[in-house]
Amino acid sequence: MSRATGDDQVMLQPALRLAQLKPSPIRMLSEGAAPSAIPLGLGEPTWDMPAAGLKALRETSGPCPYGPNFGLPQLRDAVAKFHGATRDEVLITCGSEGALFSLFLAFLNPGDEVLVPDPFFPAYTSLAHLAGAEAVFYPLDASDRFRLKAEPVIAALHSNPNIKAVVVNSPSNPTGGATTPDELLRIAEVCKARGLMLISDEVYVDLHFGTRPPSLRDVSDYGLVITSVSKAWGSPGLRVGWILGDPSFLGPARTVHGYAVTGATHPAQRAAQALIEDSKSIFIAARSEIKVRWEALRAALKDQLGHDATPPDGSFYHWMELPSAALADPWAFCIRLRDEGGVVLVPGSTFGEQGKRFARLSFAASPEQITEGVRRMAPFWNA
Ligand SMILES: Cc1ncc(COP(=O)(O)O)c(C=O)c1O
Repeated sequence: MSRATGDDQVMLQPALRLAQLKPSPIRMLSEGAAPSAIPLGLGEPTWDMPAAGLKALRETSGPCPYGPNFGLPQLRDAVAKFHGATRDEVLITCGSEGALFSLFLAFLNPGDEVLVPDPFFPAYTSLAHLAGAEAVFYPLDASDRFRLKAEPVIAALHSNPNIKAVVVNSPSNPTGGATTPDELLRIAEVCKARGLMLISDEVYVDLHFGTRPPSLRDVSDYGLVITSVSKAWGSPGLRVGWILGDPSFLGPARTVHGYAVTGATHPAQRAAQALIEDSKSIFIAARSEIKVRWEALRAALKDQLGHDATPPDGSFYHWMELPSAALADPWAFCIRLRDEGGVVLVPGSTFGEQGKRFARLSFAASPEQITEGVRRMAPFWNA
């Protein structure tokens, strides 16, 4: 980036707040792949947007206004009804990423700490840095399929007095591990007793294999739920999400979100409303989409790698151990896998310390792609 001053060129430097921020490694891996590479990297549904959403988009007519910063009242009502809440407990955002951004910018000061899981969804640490705060970590339970337990959260709170916000994510990206109502309740009670902001990222709650993992809302009225239509409603491109919780948190978040982007687009909010009103049938269809994909993955892992794999509690991620030859440099291994093998997987180290021995395979891709992707992985795993 340069600016002309007479004959000289002065380099304009990015702001200091960007010093610790790089573009998402997940995006970099995927964007650098050849068109023929099998995409098992990105976590986005590949099935069609549900009919109710498509219909609402087609039927958009008349003016296309900005709409209120809090989101369209009809959408807020639909979200409130979905969660058994009231309209004033709902702020519509541009995806759950917009929700996180707004909450962090609205509530964190330089020097504050945010407690996040390890392994974690990378936006947690990046957005904390953008807000001038630091991320500190609690481990998910590696001995129990990386499920969320209360004890490590409580231990981290004891040893880090500057923690102001706590993030939980069940089911987890990247591991697919969930939690129980008791564990979630314990975390909510500790956060409440300390007056901390508790954020429960629930984008995968309705994409489960078996029983639905608990929402924070099921166990406590404390804390904030963030989620979006990106996963279970199959519509990541709509960029509609929300924060559900105490209105005193929503006001400051609305100020940030309003200045950043005004709001989610009007047609997208209309479509999101239609999707939410049709949640029951949409979730049944979405779960059957991921089940078919899981079956393709399970069979391919057995045939090609000899693995006996178990489905995650929720999400469309398979958290798999890397072959020992990959452990010296998992990033280099995944680049080779992409460029020589023609299949994109994300090294687990992208998601934190506890991810070093793993890779994340997204089985949101089509069953055919999954089968072919694992076939291409085989020489690297069986070497
Ligand atoms: C755990 C988790 N939270 C939040 C997001 C952000 O999604 P969106 O902004 O589309 O709601 C993702 C996306 O992959 C995710 O995996």
